[in-house]
Amino acid sequence: MLTLSRRHLLRAAIGSSAALGIALGSSASPVSAASSADVDVMAEPMTTDRVLVAVDAAKPGSLSTAVVRGPAGKALGKATLSATGKALVPVKVAANAETTLTITVLTAGKNPTVGFEETITVSTQESRLASSIWRVVNKRLPMGADEVPEGLETVAGLQFHPAAAVSFLVFQEAALAQKVSFQAVSAYRTYARQKTLYDGYVEREGRDAADRYSARPGHSEHQTGLAIDARASDDECTLDECFEDTPEGTFIAQHAADHGFVIRYTKGNGGHTGYDPEPWHLRYVGTWMARYLKESKATSLEEAWGLPAAPDYGP
Ligand code: DAL
Ligand code: ZN
Repeated sequence: MLTLSRRHLLRAAIGSSAALGIALGSSASPVSAASSADVDVMAEPMTTDRVLVAVDAAKPGSLSTAVVRGPAGKALGKATLSATGKALVPVKVAANAETTLTITVLTAGKNPTVGFEETITVSTQESRLASSIWRVVNKRLPMGADEVPEGLETVAGLQFHPAAAVSFLVFQEAALAQKVSFQAVSAYRTYARQKTLYDGYVEREGRDAADRYSARPGHSEHQTGLAIDARASDDECTLDECFEDTPEGTFIAQHAADHGFVIRYTKGNGGHTGYDPEPWHLRYVGTWMARYLKESKATSLEEAWGLPAAPDYGP
């Protein structure tokens, strides 16, 4: 029998591309990861100067708090482990640089000691950030016009971030097994393509209306290759809120997390994202994170990942 360590399982969960041997970028390891028998740690850049550290402890009861320190030993952030032993620690780091982080997890009880410690190096350099599966793009956090994720894969005429491509195909197969069929209608979009779309909507309906459903160029998650618009065979509900109530929309809402996706724009998070609900717009974050988010009370990536809300383009 094949035995996978927790590290292997977590790596598979965080980015199925790693498990399938598809490189996300030029570095040998797509995700900075460290592990011991008890704790897995992952870190990925979210913005030019922010990194998200995820901690998963095998024996939740015995450990309590995760602390992340920077190069000079300065505490950058900490979080209490959940009942299932998980925690997210968002930290600010040097912009466009490599940073060495030390992650310590303290033991539970009256006199906590260091139960786990690992040092990992993360990069917020543009080439690395452009391919990060935890990259955040919103109305306040744009991508550069020239930023392109590495290793885009073409499937049925559309381009995808490699991690999202594999997972979406597996998701479609799982749906088909239940006689549910949906397709991708849009995935990776260049800055220039987004500009054409957005400018067209503004011309047709005006800027205020367009801003409710279309991102300005540089602000679309589609430029990461991690966003996918799904459509059912029922064309009436394509890119419409009624998609939510189709069998395909229902299936997607129920099972997205098991395939590493979240529905990014919901009825409850317009105040964080600045968009009307889009039950068809999936965002890949990896299965570990998608399941974590499903269990958490957070309504948006911004809220869960400690970033400011982005309801508009700012002053
Ligand atoms: N429709 C989403 C918000 C986009 O344009 O990226
Ligand atoms: Zn979309």
